[in-house]
Amino acid sequence: MSITFINLVYILAALLFALGIKMLSSPDTARKGNFISALGMLIAIIVTLLYSGLDYKWIIVGGVAGAIIGTLAAKLVKMTQMPEMVALFNGFGGIASLLVGWSEFHMYVQPTSAAPSTVSLITIFLAVLIGGITFSGSLVAWGKLAEILNSKPWLFPGQKIINALLFAGILAAGALLVINPVGNYPVFIGIVVVSIILGVLSVVPIGGADMPVVIALLNSYSGLAACAAGFVIDNNLLIVAGALVGASGIILTNIMCKAMNRSLANVLFSGFGATTRSSKKVEGEVKPISVDDAYLILEAAGSVVIVPGYGMAVAQAQHVVRELGELLEANGTEVSYAVHPVAGRMPGHMNVLLAEANVPYEQLVEPQDVNPKMELIDVAIVIGANDVVNPDARDDNNSPLYGMPIIEVDRAKTTFVLKRSMAAGFAGVDNPLFFGTNTRMLFGDAKASITGLVSEFKG
Ligand code: TAP
Repeated sequence: MSITFINLVYILAALLFALGIKMLSSPDTARKGNFISALGMLIAIIVTLLYSGLDYKWIIVGGVAGAIIGTLAAKLVKMTQMPEMVALFNGFGGIASLLVGWSEFHMYVQPTSAAPSTVSLITIFLAVLIGGITFSGSLVAWGKLAEILNSKPWLFPGQKIINALLFAGILAAGALLVINPVGNYPVFIGIVVVSIILGVLSVVPIGGADMPVVIALLNSYSGLAACAAGFVIDNNLLIVAGALVGASGIILTNIMCKAMNRSLANVLFSGFGATTRSSKKVEGEVKPISVDDAYLILEAAGSVVIVPGYGMAVAQAQHVVRELGELLEANGTEVSYAVHPVAGRMPGHMNVLLAEANVPYEQLVEPQDVNPKMELIDVAIVIGANDVVNPDARDDNNSPLYGMPIIEVDRAKTTFVLKRSMAAGFAGVDNPLFFGTNTRMLFGDAKASITGLVSEFKG
């Protein structure tokens, strides 16, 4: 098949990718957007198989293995494990780019091979460097999220200097390689090893609570590595797809940093959540409430804000939550759902769950829209959220959460907190909200508590 034809089809696939990403920006069109991007990828794969001189044997082995792993992952991985899976996928993207760079390098240094161009060598170096960092960094991020590794930041003296020296060393080695590739295979291996070490060292100082940002950033790196690999093997679609992933990952990183009121440098280098800063021990009286009493207050409420968090995902309470919202509305109550950008364990986690339960998109509000009216809200129902409603993030500059914008439910007339115990949330810090004068704790699994309220409303 002619290269011109293949490249024309690649342009079509790239357009489908861009259109698909655009459609992901609204929950109404997101599913279709995902499908359109997947269609673009299918077209791209089919047309790539038309390149002449391919060894189909290995392609089939890779395709079948990939399809089996993908199907199993889609079926078996729980929604709450999605960030871990994304971390692993980023890592595999990184190692794939590294291996593409390595195989090209290996080919170039054969005695029979023509001398590679400087541009080829630079792109090989970039694919290996970024791919290696992405691979090992993503594995560490996965380990921290899956709680296989300690999620606390791991800091040691001279850490930043060591990282800077390693980075300077790897750049010098890259320059050496570009000048003289043939005699420098050991230098190349050194670059592979140091890039993998750099990935580990750059992610270990970052705490578990910042992992979502790191994963978005590693996603961006995996795109850049793929883009470099695209230049290495001269594949236009890989260049475009890599650039799209690189750009969207960095945009998402930026959105999440803004949501936490932190700079990217602060996320990457401050060791946020290390033992150097700790919030005060909260003391006071906890006031539990029963489902029956909570129902009586809700029944009389004119306005209710529902604040979902990670616990709603764990309890899979989204469907009964929607049912409760409908019953409240039927009772004349104004209902909205306040969604925090980092509630749950992945970007858009709460939006996905609420959309799955068919909560109308118009009822979703952002923290900055609901906070100014919070004093007028009769009841805020916090469903398995903790860190994103922790007033210390606003009030206590010693809190590890300090600076993260929150949903200020402590200012509502009454706040119900639905959770199973007094346990801390992801950041591992106490929450003074639970001791607030307006707060009532509705202890128990969120789904069971909401189901109880729904039954009360149904009489
Ligand atoms: P968290 O602070 O993690 O709190 C979740 C709460 O849900 C826990 O305190 C837990 O208390 C409760 N819970 C768990 N299972 C429950 C169940 N079955 N029924 C009722 N409650 C249950 O959640 P959040 O407020 O959503 O904050 C998210 C945190 O995760 C932030 O620190 C954020 O930075 C971090 N994070 C976010 C992301 C993204 S991108 N969203 C990714 C990774 C990490 P009990 O055990 O007492 O029930």
